[in-house]
Amino acid sequence: MRKKITIVGAGNVGATAAHWAAERELGDIVLLDIVEGIPQGKALDLMEARPVENFDVTITGTNNYEDTKDSDVVIITAGLPRRPGMSREDLVQKNREIVEAVTRQIVSCSPRCFIIVVSNPLDTMAYLAYKVSGFSRNRVMGMAGVLDSARFKTFIAMELNISVEEVQAFVLGGHGDEMVPLIRYSTVAGIPISQLIAEDRIQAIVERTRKAGGEIVNLLKTGSAFYSPAASAVQMAEAILKDKRRILPCAVYLQGEYGLHDLFFGVPVILGADGAEKIIEAALTAEEKAAVEKSAREVKESITKLNL
Ligand code: NAI
Ligand code: 2OP
Repeated sequence: MRKKITIVGAGNVGATAAHWAAERELGDIVLLDIVEGIPQGKALDLMEARPVENFDVTITGTNNYEDTKDSDVVIITAGLPRRPGMSREDLVQKNREIVEAVTRQIVSCSPRCFIIVVSNPLDTMAYLAYKVSGFSRNRVMGMAGVLDSARFKTFIAMELNISVEEVQAFVLGGHGDEMVPLIRYSTVAGIPISQLIAEDRIQAIVERTRKAGGEIVNLLKTGSAFYSPAASAVQMAEAILKDKRRILPCAVYLQGEYGLHDLFFGVPVILGADGAEKIIEAALTAEEKAAVEKSAREVKESITKLNL
């Protein structure tokens, strides 16, 4: 029997995630949105791409949670995106209503699913979904670190004019301007980037990574990035559905790891059949710890706005 993946929100990120997941044949896909016709139309369009791209999964568009019943993985992309001049934080109040309502319905239809939250502000919305779901912490995670790390890797590869496949790098912390790209743990073919790129260029790459979401919002003007966010969420889903035990940076609920408590925060996690199975604690210098703490303060401040 095929796995079942529900994607809530059939907008830019949701529909693109359905596309990547279908092409990879991760399972049957249910695309759900509040707007009538949009998920049905996009699902049918994707179904009609199957004979061209040769993928054998079913994509169903719906406005009804009954169709999501017994999903293995649910990706929540419902919510407003940023527009120029807006920060992710400007979305808190509107998106909290959406994410809260979506989570309640998902949990009642799929009590054993894994939830991957994409809606912004990411760490706060993942925290909300975790609290509302009542799930254990391995079942709820947020997608940001895979995307932020992909951006960091992209800029490193562009700087050196090399394949992205040679780059290992990861970004810790909250999905905000205080995220922490870890220079010391970033390598090209195993060589630390500090040996290959001048310090001022590394700092410019770090700064561009932190602002990468905004860079795209300013270019698009009507919304935010969606190809790379969708690909990142699907990579997390794939790691769970195929029990790959990949180590990916994910926003998870911390209970003392990295010295932090009661927040969602991006850290390296083993993702496998049991979801966020284990948090990996990398040793940090005093400077890196200070950056992590600064990012955590930003996330905590956002979480307090939920008044939970
Ligand atoms: P979009 O506007 O294209 O799509 C959002 C969809 O959600 C719309 O189709 C809308 O009808 C639907 N929706 C709204 N309320 C709903 C509800 N109650 N139930 C079901 N569907 C509902 O936005 P886009 O670009 O897809 O972004 C979605 C969210 O993901 C935004 O909050 C955005 O900020 C966030 N995002 C997060 C990223 C991350 O790294 N974590 C990266 C990119 C986007
Ligand atoms: C991004 O980083 C908007 O959070 C979204 O592209």
